[in-house]
Amino acid sequence: MKRIIALAVLTCFLASLFGCSSGDNATQSAKSIIVGFSQLGSESGWRVGNTNDIMAAAQRANVQLLFMNADQKQENQIKAIRSFIASRVDVIAFAPIVEDGWDNVLQEAKDAGIPVLLTDRMINVKDSSLYAGFVGSNFLREGQEAAEFLLKKTADMDRVRIVEITGTEDSTPMKERKEGFENQIAGNPKYEIIDTVSGDFLRSKGKECMRNILKETHDFNVLYSHNDAMTLGAIEAIEEAGLQPGKDIIIITVDGEQRAIDLLKQGKINCVVECTPLIGDTVMALAKKLAAGESIPRITYSVERTFSEYDTDLDTLPPRGYGDEQD
Ligand code: AHR
Repeated sequence: MKRIIALAVLTCFLASLFGCSSGDNATQSAKSIIVGFSQLGSESGWRVGNTNDIMAAAQRANVQLLFMNADQKQENQIKAIRSFIASRVDVIAFAPIVEDGWDNVLQEAKDAGIPVLLTDRMINVKDSSLYAGFVGSNFLREGQEAAEFLLKKTADMDRVRIVEITGTEDSTPMKERKEGFENQIAGNPKYEIIDTVSGDFLRSKGKECMRNILKETHDFNVLYSHNDAMTLGAIEAIEEAGLQPGKDIIIITVDGEQRAIDLLKQGKINCVVECTPLIGDTVMALAKKLAAGESIPRITYSVERTFSEYDTDLDTLPPRGYGDEQD
């Protein structure tokens, strides 16, 4: 399916490059810009929602999208960026899987005069002029929000033993969700993170991690999971072990997929920190500015909220638009 989408997008792109369009389409193509977008993979409902949103926003904005999915491999993202440079796109946008290792390929983009927009995750490069700006979530704030809920929920408890399942190593959400959370509980001796394991943002790994932990110990009362996909897997393992998620173990998760909000309403999750994948319209607006030679803000953060068992509006929330059973 991914190949079919890539081929379809590539066909549109080549048609526009070589003037094969006709009638209204040709007129539209003449006005529209070409954005090469490298998506890092399809690891979660969040990511699928992000891909769908980017594609729909490109159509709305009359942007020709050259889309490539890297299947969780940095080398595929680097190849995609090189192919965008060779194709002389107007703007390169990409969601970097990890922070390090982008200097060379982005230098090539800069030498070719193609502006680069980071989406969703940050990078570490020696020369900050290698990218024009970033659009996405404030992951440090997300970690802080998760801890703030925990502080409130556990105010009357003497001993809080936390298991943390993190996302992909060396990715921005993994690093900053951890840092933001730890900063808030630091110096308070009743909080102890007894184990931190990586679940790579995958549901299957979230389940595997939780199964392994539960084989070793049941002596913890909180799960802080860096995304909903891993949380859904971990909840399966918790229930298999005869424990009640949301009651025996306080569950705090990040993303806000429909499935997680549904479990929050059922009392199986206690807190969902929102991280929205619906950034497509902003990506397209910023890409158009870059293509026109205009400057853009260095950082554009999404506006987000935290949902928890303390909220009174959970039953009236509109559908989330990502992370439902169709994903
Ligand atoms: O970078 C955003 C994170 O990546 C989301 O929290 C997660 O679900 C996705 O895999």
